[in-house]
Amino acid sequence: MTASKNGGLAVVPGSYDPVTFGHLDIISRAANAWDNVIVAVVDHPVRKQKTVFSADERVAFIESEVAEYGNVQVKPFDTLLVDFAREHGAKAIVKGLRAISDFEYEFEMNQLNRKMAPDIESMYMMAAPQFSFLSSSGVKELAMFGGDVSGLVPDPVAVRLQEELKR
Ligand code: PNS
Repeated sequence: MTASKNGGLAVVPGSYDPVTFGHLDIISRAANAWDNVIVAVVDHPVRKQKTVFSADERVAFIESEVAEYGNVQVKPFDTLLVDFAREHGAKAIVKGLRAISDFEYEFEMNQLNRKMAPDIESMYMMAAPQFSFLSSSGVKELAMFGGDVSGLVPDPVAVRLQEELKR
């Protein structure tokens, strides 16, 4: 029996400030499972806190890492995630789950997104063990205090982090 994909399009959303190897692992697994993937990058200036990198730069970081996959596009969005997903005809929203600490937040987002768009399924992939404790905020904290972030984010991202955050 040959393995087949789920078909259709999945959206893999996030702030990606900045993208980590954990995110890239989820994106590549989604690209294996769905025909097409859109990585949706939050571009909203007042949501949560100010980002270190502009949406354009966050998009560009991801684009250069996924260039080799023929079926992944990267797009910024500043609307409700479900509206973005619907606009693009996505069947699923795909997210990564690391530790149990992610669960509560994602459970809430799931309820909200489901209420607004019951037709779009949210699906969760467990992070690979080596990425279970990797987060953008942890990486920024390390970079801010001069820690080595190589092996956690792509090299160009590490360079820009040093420029932006090193004291
Ligand atoms: O944890 P992240 O990476 O900041 O997650 C971002 C996102 C958009 C995936 C998550 O917050 C979510 O599922 N939000 C649903 C509500 C929504 O649509 N917000 C608008 C974002 S522009």
